[in-house]
Amino acid sequence: MTTAVYLLLITVSVSYFHQSNAGTFSIDYNNHCFVKDGKPWQYISGSVHYFRIHPDLWEDRLKRVRALGFNAIQVYTAWVLHEPTSGKIDFASPGLNISRFFELAYQNELAVLLRPGPYICAESDYGMLPWWLVNIDGIKLRTYETNYINAVQRYYNRLLDEVKPLTYKNGGPIIMVQIENEYSALGIALYVPSPIIKPKNTVILIELTGAQQNYINFINHTIYYYPNYNVNKWGCNLP
Ligand SMILES: *[C@@H]1O[C@H](CO)[C@@H](O)[C@H](O)[C@H]1NC(C)=O
Ligand SMILES: *[C@@H]1O[C@H](CO)[C@@H](O)[C@H](O)[C@H]1NC(C)=O
Repeated sequence: MTTAVYLLLITVSVSYFHQSNAGTFSIDYNNHCFVKDGKPWQYISGSVHYFRIHPDLWEDRLKRVRALGFNAIQVYTAWVLHEPTSGKIDFASPGLNISRFFELAYQNELAVLLRPGPYICAESDYGMLPWWLVNIDGIKLRTYETNYINAVQRYYNRLLDEVKPLTYKNGGPIIMVQIENEYSALGIALYVPSPIIKPKNTVILIELTGAQQNYINFINHTIYYYPNYNVNKWGCNLP
C-alpha cells in the first residue's frame, strides 16, 4: 500500500555507527527531488519485514533484494513483538535486533525507509499494536489521548535510541522515517508522538499520500505524489 507520512530524521547526536561514512540526505523543494550526498537520487524500494523472516535468513533475503536491483527497502517495526508485555521492551532477541537488520541492509547497499508505526497495518492483526493496550481504561488508540501517547512514547524513546546511530547522517542506512500508516484515510488530524520531534531529533515531516490534503495537520513540508495531484512535478533530472 502507499505510504503516508515521511519524516526526515536529522539527528545531531554523535554516533559510533559508521561515522566516517556519514552522508547527507535532503529534499530539493524547487526541483521536487531527493538529494543524497549532493546528487539527485531516486529510491527504488520494496518492503522487507524483519519480523516475517527468520533472523538466520535476513542476510540472504537482503542480498536477493539488492540483486533484484532495489537500492532501498521499507521496513515497519512491529510494536507488539518488541513489547509483548507492557514495559518489557526487547530489541535484543535475535529476531528483534533491528540494529543488526539495518546493519545488514547497509552492508548490502540498501537505504532504509523506516516505518515505525506505532500502528503499521502490514496486513497484521491490530496493525501490530500491543494487545495489552485495550486493557487500559479510557485509552483511545491512534490519538493524542494520554494513556495511548504515554505508551507510544515509552516505546518510541527506546526505539529511537536503537535507530539514532543508524540514520544516514550518522553513517547508517536510514534516510527517512514515516510515522503511522495511511493516516489520512481516517480523515482526522495526525498525532505526532513527541519523542520523534523533540529537539535532538529535529524532523521534517512530509506527506506522501492521497489527494485528501485537508485531512492532516502537516508539519513542515507537504509533497503529494498521487497521479491526480502533481506527480508530474515530482522527480528531477536524474543522472
Ligand atoms: C544486535 O546484534 C549485534 C550483533 O550483530 C550486537 O552487537 C548488539 O548488541 C545486538 N543488539 C542488542 C540490543 O542486543
Ligand atoms: C518543522 O516543524 C517543527 C514542528 O512543528 C517546527 O518546530 C520547526 O520549526 C519546523 N521547521 C521548519 C524548517 O519549518
